[in-house]
Formats: sequence, structure tokens, C-alpha cells
Amino acid sequence: MPDYFDKLTVAVEFFDFASRFSRIEGWLSETEGYTLLLAAAHGPGKGEIVEIGSWMGRSTCWLAAGSQLKCREKVHAIDPFDGGPMLKHLAVIREQGTTYHSFVDNLTSVGLFDYVQPIVATFQQAAQTWDKPIRLLFIDGDHSYEAVKTDFEQWSRFLVVDALIAFDDVTGQYEGAKRYYDELLQSDERYREVAHVGKVKFIQRLK
Ligand SMILES: C[S@@+](CC[C@H](N)C(=O)[O-])C[C@H]1O[C@@H](n2cnc3c(N)ncnc32)[C@H](O)[C@@H]1O
Repeated sequence: MPDYFDKLTVAVEFFDFASRFSRIEGWLSETEGYTLLLAAAHGPGKGEIVEIGSWMGRSTCWLAAGSQLKCREKVHAIDPFDGGPMLKHLAVIREQGTTYHSFVDNLTSVGLFDYVQPIVATFQQAAQTWDKPIRLLFIDGDHSYEAVKTDFEQWSRFLVVDALIAFDDVTGQYEGAKRYYDELLQSDERYREVAHVGKVKFIQRLK
């Protein structure tokens, strides 16, 4: 096949995964998801993949699919699954009190549950017993300034050099999350921005 058809492979992969995950509720777009998949599959460094804020598993699927493509690590999905302060008002939380059952059903239905290690806890609770290096951290929990700051401060000590960190919702709608992200980049020279897709921004730890 001529070289100019190479991009077809990417397009086919993208649409295959997008259609596989299309029924899973969430706010992450397909291009944002595919960027997480690429980071999980090809991202640098040796260590774990950690997701903070899983809801019903949409982003977890993209991360797990990427890691599975290259036979890399399972995804640690940290969430109390109670919606936290932001999502308490939604019907599923008011009626069932949790999204954990939907999370398990969704991951199972796309054949990825074996590639995920759920941790039913807040990021603060989970950080107390965590002791492994991390190569990819996705932060999509409580979007207040204090929560994003504490998320990052507690979990960044486990990041290996070259690790990627993806922050969701730091482009405007959530003023607190955006403010912390901008402050971090301005004040800490160990991190530089490496990608921006939709409302997700990726930084890399340089040293
Ligand atoms: C925006 S949703 C996550 C969406 C998910 N990443 C997706 O792609 O569908 C935010 C999630 O963060 C969780 N959350 C809220 N506070 C948290 C905390 N302190 N630690 C961990 N997760 C938290 C909520 O329970 C909720 O499921």
C-alpha cells in the first residue's frame, strides 16, 4: 500500500475504539480519549497508570485500551464513585448513590475490566497507602482549585522522570482547575506542556 494511506491505520483505530466506547456516559470527547489511549500505549517511562475520577469509566476505557494494546500496566482507577461535590445532584447519584456498578458493567461490556484495578476511595485516602512509581497520571476528580492542587501535590511525588500528567477541564469552564494548572506551569520548571486536545492538557515531568 502506498505511504499516503498510512493515516488510514490511525483513522481506523480511532473509529474502532470510538464506536466500541460510544455507549459509555461521560464528558470526555473521543479525540480527548484517543489522546489518553496514545499516552497509555506509547508514553515514556516505567511505572503505573493512575486515574483520579472515573465516574462510569469512559476515560478508564481509553486508558486501559491503550495500555492493553502494548501489553503494558493495568489502570488504577481511583474514585469514591459517589459523584464527589460536583456531581451529587445527578439522577444516578440521587437514586443509586454510586456509579460503581455502571463502571464495572461498562468496563466488562467492552472486555477491559481485567485491565483495570478499581480503588474505591478518594484520592486523599488512596494516597495514604500508595507506594509505586507512576508514568501516567490522569486528573479528572473534583475540579475546585484546592482539590486539583492537593491531587497534584499528593500524587506528583510518585511521578517518574518523563512521566505524563493529563489534566481534564483546565481550559476555562472550571476556573479553579484552570488557575491551578496555569500556576503550576508558571512556578515549577520541572514541568512543560506537551499536548492540548479539547479541554485536556498534558504536561511532562522533565527532571
Ligand atoms: C468528571 S467525573 C470523571 C469523569 C471520567 N473521567 C470520564 O471520563 O467519564 C469526576 C469524578 O471524580 C470523582 N471524585 C470527586 N471527588 C473525588 C476525590 N476526592 N477523589 C477521587 N475522585 C473524586 C467523582 O466521584 C466523579 O466520578
